[in-house]
Amino acid sequence: MSWLVTGGAGYIGAHIVRALSDAGMSPVVLDDLSSGHAEFVPEGVPFVRGSILDHSLLVETLRSHRVAGVIHVAGYKYAGVSVQRPLHTYEQNVEGTRVVLAAMAETGVSHLVFSSSAAVYGTPDVELVTEDLPKRPASPYGESKLIGEWLLRDQAVATASSDAPLRHTSLRYFNVVGSSDPSVYDTSPHNLFPLVFEALIEGRTPKIFGDDYDTPDGTNVRDYVHVGDIAAAHVVAAQRLQAGEPVEPAYNLGSRNGLSVRQIMDAMARGTGIDFEPEIGPRRPGDPDRIVATGDLAARDLDWQNRYTVDEMVRSGWEARRAAG
Ligand SMILES: NC(=O)c1ccc[n+]([C@@H]2O[C@H](COP(=O)([O-])OP(=O)(O)OC[C@H]3O[C@@H](n4cnc5c(N)ncnc54)[C@H](O)[C@@H]3O)[C@@H](O)[C@H]2O)c1
Repeated sequence: MSWLVTGGAGYIGAHIVRALSDAGMSPVVLDDLSSGHAEFVPEGVPFVRGSILDHSLLVETLRSHRVAGVIHVAGYKYAGVSVQRPLHTYEQNVEGTRVVLAAMAETGVSHLVFSSSAAVYGTPDVELVTEDLPKRPASPYGESKLIGEWLLRDQAVATASSDAPLRHTSLRYFNVVGSSDPSVYDTSPHNLFPLVFEALIEGRTPKIFGDDYDTPDGTNVRDYVHVGDIAAAHVVAAQRLQAGEPVEPAYNLGSRNGLSVRQIMDAMARGTGIDFEPEIGPRRPGDPDRIVATGDLAARDLDWQNRYTVDEMVRSGWEARRAAG
């Protein structure tokens, strides 16, 4: 039996694939390479190139690889751009998830771990985000992830008395950074870490978008977690589903520890050895002051721990980015 990782050629998916292999759980990757990279898929791991929107390809993949469960990571993740591309975002994230669920139902595959996001909460006005907070997504991206969670919930109800009742959990990520493998790094053109790395490599001054927020140093505060910790939580979630152990419908993979953009910039200077003073630009629309979450439920059920310091997050991310040339 194997585990299918949709989006396994992307930054987070490729880390999950490695963690599954290390746990002896035989990953298989399905990815259309729209933002992923074939070279992120380790040698020896079966790689099916294609889209989650392709129902027959999914059915064929689930059958031919005798898949026990799916870790559904594939998605369109650019929250800002999703405002200009709502139809594309909904197609990839909502229709894509519907097709994954339909193919699973057709083949009797009944375990699903879903990549959700802090974006389901929108701009919560609390010190620490917990899973039970109202969901008020502020972008088509956040809406599409929330609808994805609803699809899982509704399909679980619909299949409850079938031969293959769906068991599922959604893992809500915050700011995922760093690298556990020097050959895999975040290639997003919009996330803070890759933006700063690109600027430094090209000799430009990294930019802070707004320093007049209601936070101790005026810059946004976010919850940064290492991708290796994220990947490890998926393995435990998959194992619990497979063992028939109880899981919550959703877990925040948060650290309880907010870091400001200014603190990240300081860590960047330390970790890269490049001394710089960031340029201050205007605020970006829709950026909340602070989003930081507890990971208490995940710590209880998924062995969720924050094993890395911010300096290790920066150093590992920088090394992987530099190794790519
Ligand atoms: N990076 C973060 O901080 C973060 C935070 C919250 C949630 N997420 C979610 O985690 C997931 C992975 O994010 P990432 O940072 O690794 O992004 P990524 O862009 O590196 O990975 C996404 C992968 O999915 C693939 N993909 C996209 N659409 C597909 C389709 N229709 N069919 C098959 N494959 C498809 C891409 O080619 C890529 O390999 C996404 O669903 C994202 O929304 C990421």
